Amino acid sequence: MSSRPHPDPAAWLAAVPAQHWLVTGAAGFIGSNLVETLLRAGHRVTGLDNFATGHRRNLEEVREQVGASAWARWRFIEGDIGDAAACREATQGVDQVLHQAALGSVPRSIAQPMRSFEANVTGFVQMLTAARDAGVRRFVYASSSSVYGDHPDLPKVEDRVGRPLSPYAATKAANELFADVWARTYGMTSVGLRYFNVFGPRQDPDGPYAAVIPLWVSAMLRGEPCVINGDGQTSRDFCYVANAVQANLRAALAAGPMPAHTVLNVAVGERTSLVELFEALRDALQRQLGADYRLTPQFRDFRAGDVRHSLASIERARTIIGYEPTHRVAQGIDEAIGWYARRGQGAAPGGA
Ligand SMILES: NC(=O)c1ccc[n+]([C@@H]2O[C@H](COP(=O)([O-])OP(=O)(O)OC[C@H]3O[C@@H](n4cnc5c(N)ncnc54)[C@H](O)[C@@H]3O)[C@@H](O)[C@H]2O)c1
Repeated sequence: MSSRPHPDPAAWLAAVPAQHWLVTGAAGFIGSNLVETLLRAGHRVTGLDNFATGHRRNLEEVREQVGASAWARWRFIEGDIGDAAACREATQGVDQVLHQAALGSVPRSIAQPMRSFEANVTGFVQMLTAARDAGVRRFVYASSSSVYGDHPDLPKVEDRVGRPLSPYAATKAANELFADVWARTYGMTSVGLRYFNVFGPRQDPDGPYAAVIPLWVSAMLRGEPCVINGDGQTSRDFCYVANAVQANLRAALAAGPMPAHTVLNVAVGERTSLVELFEALRDALQRQLGADYRLTPQFRDFRAGDVRHSLASIERARTIIGYEPTHRVAQGIDEAIGWYARRGQGAAPGGA
């Protein structure tokens, strides 16, 4: 595969001989974006999801986007990754697994650690085992930047991790341990992708555990206040979903020499503080909707379990799988806001 990516992964993916992919968490944000890209490129896709946090409307939207002939290559299994039989059924005849299903959110894991453990650890090991038994070529899975925990170094480099700061982070660290052991014990090939704050179309703006970008965009569209946890100088490496999709596909298809198990940062390598993010979202809304969003953020205490700063080195992903982000933060924000506005939330601003 060329290491100079085309902006649209579907363009080079279409040149790859069609394969059968399993996307777990297919009804979720990142999963549904993977399904859409794979179907557009002519591949067969099986999806597995229990709708814990995903939505049927995401799959409906993919069906509308890809059209009837692509949709004929889609198969959906409603099931739980904690259920060995569902995992066996889903992995049958599959070439590649893109394992995204998990319960996200640090605060959710602090409130309900057992639920996070069952989905993210027990479910992970069930999937790993089913994929091994089905002889899949490569098991690509969603890890997280939260694995860096309290390690102070910036940028984050894959081999230097600290202690996890939340049950969620511990589940993702456990995923990496199990995948590593499965590689050495059973000769299974896997790649863990440490996502750094992914955002974009279909990321859920609702519920108590919504991520910051959809939460703020929908608050702005309703004219409600955006709340910043802490002093606003907390920073993140925000990564548009097209970059995460590209990383998954490249990790699955990379033909060069690769260890049996490796972990890769998936980010842009650009650091944005929460105050900068707030201003970028507000300005993009103003530009796109031509309305006057004279909003100011509200501040409250820091949130337990949050790391202070996050910024990735993406050199390893560049070298091993030829990953190159196609969207920087500003471009991703423009595309994401376009989607939220089209989704029908684009009413006139509700006030300051
Ligand atoms: N979005 C981010 O910024 C980010 C950052 C780091 C890691 N991740 C990881 O990426 C993956 C995808 O995250 P997302 O943002 O798309 O979240 P999401 O909540 O939109 O998607 C997760 C999907 O998994 C499904 N799911 C949860 N538990 C399940 C179970 N037991 N059985 C079957 N399906 C189940 C949910 O219904 C949902 O559709 C997750 O593993 C998450 O931990 C995401």
